[in-house]
Amino acid sequence: MKQVKVGIIGGGLMGREAASAFARWFVLNDFPVQPVLIALCDLNTSLFEWYKQIPTITQFTTSYHELLANPEVEVVYAAVPHNLHEQVYLDVIKAGKDLLAEKPFGIDLIAARRIEEAVRKSNSFVRCSSEFPFLPGPQRVIKEIQSGKLGKIISIRSAFHHASDLDETKPINWKRQVKTCGEIGVMGDLGMHVAHVPLRLGWKPKTVYAQLQKLVKERPDGKGGTAICDTWDNAIIHCSVEIDGILTPMTWETFRMAPTETNTWIIEVIGTKGGFKYSTKEPKTFWEYEISGKDQWWKKTDLGFTSVFPTITGAIFEPGFPDCFMQMLAAYFAEREGKLGNKFGCATPQEAVLSHEVFDAALLSHKEQRVVTL
Ligand SMILES: NC(=O)c1ccc[n+]([C@@H]2O[C@H](COP(=O)([O-])OP(=O)(O)OC[C@H]3O[C@@H](n4cnc5c(N)ncnc54)[C@H](O)[C@@H]3O)[C@@H](O)[C@H]2O)c1
Repeated sequence: MKQVKVGIIGGGLMGREAASAFARWFVLNDFPVQPVLIALCDLNTSLFEWYKQIPTITQFTTSYHELLANPEVEVVYAAVPHNLHEQVYLDVIKAGKDLLAEKPFGIDLIAARRIEEAVRKSNSFVRCSSEFPFLPGPQRVIKEIQSGKLGKIISIRSAFHHASDLDETKPINWKRQVKTCGEIGVMGDLGMHVAHVPLRLGWKPKTVYAQLQKLVKERPDGKGGTAICDTWDNAIIHCSVEIDGILTPMTWETFRMAPTETNTWIIEVIGTKGGFKYSTKEPKTFWEYEISGKDQWWKKTDLGFTSVFPTITGAIFEPGFPDCFMQMLAAYFAEREGKLGNKFGCATPQEAVLSHEVFDAALLSHKEQRVVTL
């Protein structure tokens, strides 16, 4: 198998997720390329101990410029706080490396546009992280929608819900402050996840009306004091999208304060002749609404483990977060090799910019309490 040498910038939560996926790459059947993790950069050197379990890593550094100067590194996976996206991504591109960039692809719309422009002017292959569409359920929803079974589309709902912030004693981190997470707050954290499938299906919002909520304004700072928590906790973005000449309601929900939810990603698309829904709350279950004569009902199907890229895992099993994350990485490397074929691809820089246009309009909509036209 051809090898591609990879460096990670930002070895925290997501850096380790990526490293773990590379480490079990052999789970993929007949995959054309093998990523080999050779370099890690993080300011927090205590993370290096964990990464020392990976024998292929030969470079540990606290300077990402040193990692980028390593001629062996071909692809960078960057998972750093949002305030660093623009500079780090631009430097990766300038160094001539390929990049899988974590969302939201810049702290705001201006940053996302600058990164996208730099990608366009470069030869770097760049994609933005968004893994949930790679689960079997979303893949089935996408396939059914593309088959045209829905009739006229009545409504679209794409949502991502978390509950952990309900605990007001949870210490602050960079994701809860505008200076590091961005003014878009929860939309920066969860928004690309709800935007990817609708945008890929061509559902670009024409208008936006947003309701944004800040529920917890202060949190423990982890040092015995308190710190200002100034990001949006929850956002509901009501969009209208033109589908076959009809203005159709589409809702994007991103909630950090959603009681009982851990990492619940939802897609629901309802039409006049059929409808589909999927939620990670029931990770293997695909719901399809059907009409027969005067009867209408929801049909529930267990999909099992039917992945985009075939694996050794039996089709009777259930998929989870590490699986879809690995499938997304596989899509990145397959597309980079020109071998994606008609399989679902990672979010593009253009899709990331489009998502930012919606989040930016959502900020304006909330501020002025009006509908914003894109
Ligand atoms: N795809 C997903 O499902 C998903 C989930 C969570 C987070 N994310 C995204 O991943 C990115 C990182 O989030 P995280 O949860 O891993 O955060 P994290 O805080 O766990 O990790 C970020 C790491 O970056 C390091 N870092 C900070 N400044 C640095 C610098 N100058 N050079 C090198 N390293 C530096 C920090 O020390 C930390 O270890 C964000 O863009 C976030 O939105 C994606």
